[in-house]
Parts: sequence; C-alpha cells; structure tokens
Amino acid sequence: MTQTQRILVTGSTGTVGRQVVAELLARGHVVRALTRDAARADLPADVEVVQGDLSAPDSLIPALEGVTGIHLITFGGAYFAPLGSGPRILELAREAGVRRVTVLHGGGPSPLEDAVRADDGVDWTVLMPVEFMANALEWADGIVASGEVREPFVSRLSAMVHEGDIGAVAAVALTEEGHAGQEYVITGPELLTVGDKVAAIAAARGRDIALVELTEEQAVARWRAAGHPEDVIGFLLEAYGNTPEVGRTVLDTVEKVTGSPARSFARWAAEHADAFSVTGAAGTA
Ligand SMILES: NC(=O)c1ccc[n+]([C@@H]2O[C@H](COP(=O)([O-])OP(=O)(O)OC[C@H]3O[C@@H](n4cnc5c(N)ncnc54)[C@H](OP(=O)(O)O)[C@@H]3O)[C@@H](O)[C@H]2O)c1
Repeated sequence: MTQTQRILVTGSTGTVGRQVVAELLARGHVVRALTRDAARADLPADVEVVQGDLSAPDSLIPALEGVTGIHLITFGGAYFAPLGSGPRILELAREAGVRRVTVLHGGGPSPLEDAVRADDGVDWTVLMPVEFMANALEWADGIVASGEVREPFVSRLSAMVHEGDIGAVAAVALTEEGHAGQEYVITGPELLTVGDKVAAIAAARGRDIALVELTEEQAVARWRAAGHPEDVIGFLLEAYGNTPEVGRTVLDTVEKVTGSPARSFARWAAEHADAFSVTGAAGTA
C-alpha cells in the first residue's frame, strides 16, 4: 500500500480527468481537482475542487500548494488548441514541490508536453491512449432516436481503450515508483470494428441497432454540418480512414502498470447501456 498523497488533477471534469479522479480516490489518495467553473464541476463530495485556468498559469498557484503530483492536459480551449503556457505551469509546479507529473498526450506536439519532457526536476510520465471507448457516446442520440448508427469506414479496426484504464495508469504513475520517463501507449484488450462495437451496444441495451455505412463524402458533409473546422475534418478522415498502426495494436500496458487486465468494450457498453436506451436518455423509468 502506498502512502496517501495529495494530487492535483487538471481536466478533472472531462472524460479522462473524471476517471483519474476516481482511480486516485479508489486508491485512498486526496484529490484536488482544477476546473474553470467550480459551480458546475459535479465532482465527488470528498474532492477538493479549486478554480483556475491553465491558460492563466498563475491562477494555479493556490491549487498547487501542498500537492505531490499533478495530472496535466495539454490544451486549454476549443478543439483542444495546445496551451502555450506549459513552461510556466511546470515552473510553478516545481516551485510548489511537485515531484511527479503525468501528461495526457494530445495527439500532436504541444509546448506543455515539450516542457514536461525537458524537465529533469520532476518524475514525468506521458500517457498516450488510443481511441477512447467513450467516443461511442456520439452514437447515443442516433441510436435512441432511430435505432441506427451512421458511420464511414465501418471495417476499420481500433484497439480502443476504456477511459477508466487511462485513469488507473495515471493514478499509479502519479503515486508509485518506477514510471519516471516512461511514455505509455494505453490500449484496450482487443481489436474491434465499428460493427463489433455496435453489436456490443445492442447486446448491452437489449435491442438491435442498424449500422448504415456512410461514404467518405457523406461523412465529410455531416462533420461540416456539425460545424467542425476543416483541419479537424482532415484529422478525422485520416484517423478513421487510415488508422495508424499504433491505433490498431493491442498492448499490455494497462495490466503491466496497474496489475489488472484492460477493461473490455462489452463491459464499457454495459456500464453505459442507459445512454443508448430510450428510458435512459429520456431520464424516465
Ligand atoms: N477522444 C479520443 O479518442 C482521444 C484519444 C487520445 C487522446 N485524446 C486526447 O485527450 C484529450 C481530451 O481529453 P478529454 O476527452 O478527457 O477532454 P474533455 O472531456 O473535452 O474535457 C476537457 C477538460 O479540460 C478542462 N479545460 C479545458 N480548458 C481548460 C482551461 N483553459 N483551464 C483549465 N481546464 C480546462 C475542462 O475543465 P472545465 O471545463 O471544468 O474548466 C475539462 O475538464 C485531448 O488532448 C485529445 O487529443 C483523445
């Protein structure tokens, strides 16, 4: 059993951050959670919620007081625009006595991740998850409204990872020895097509779901209609149409770091079955 530590989690109200918070609490640590809006954070009652903005790093000074570790995101605005304030955040963390840092890789270079990697004053670990299982929540509205999923590239393979496992790897790296200087590619336990995922969600909610394959042109039109900028659309086309090997390779990182096997998509679908069910989505029994 490791000693109880106080850890600051940034991005704490997000898909990954909430899981980092949960996994730290489950291991008995004290969690301080950063958000720009404490009133809307909706975090567990035993979390120390602090307000601050990563794009104004000095607003983090009170949040950093007395923490031994910090989990960092690399972005601070719309469409995950990389933060320019990374070096200052690291400087403040070191001044506050932070010893361990995890950083959630943002899929490309960022000044914050560069600053972390260059910092020999802290034990850092870079977390490089592949596609999140939570991305399947984007299908919830279509499934609830019409019982169908409309997607391009339905045969693409993904090693998608349960966000709870990203949180678990972060929690271990932030509180235990042996993870300094590591870059952890974090994956789920199996390769899945879009069809496999849709079938797992259908099984979890107990009702069939139709899978309609969109052409590339139809997908681009839909992303444009949703207001995505062209560079984001280009990223999605590349990620889905030409998934890099790293995104379709299963690794044993989760088990090696946490001691528990990576969680399956079937488990994720069972945990989220309500989001894909008429009753769950409508919030009625
Ligand atoms: N989706 C995928 O498949 C995938 C795969 C690999 C990597 N990634 C990477 O994962 C990251 C996204 O993580 P996520 O999905 O957990 O994010 P998310 O759910 O969109 O949450 C965003 C979080 O960032 C916080 N935040 C944003 N701007 C902030 C600022 N200026 N100051 C303080 N906090 C700020 C928000 O806090 P408040 O609003 O409470 O302030 C919120 O907690 C991206 O870097 C992405 O590239 C995603």
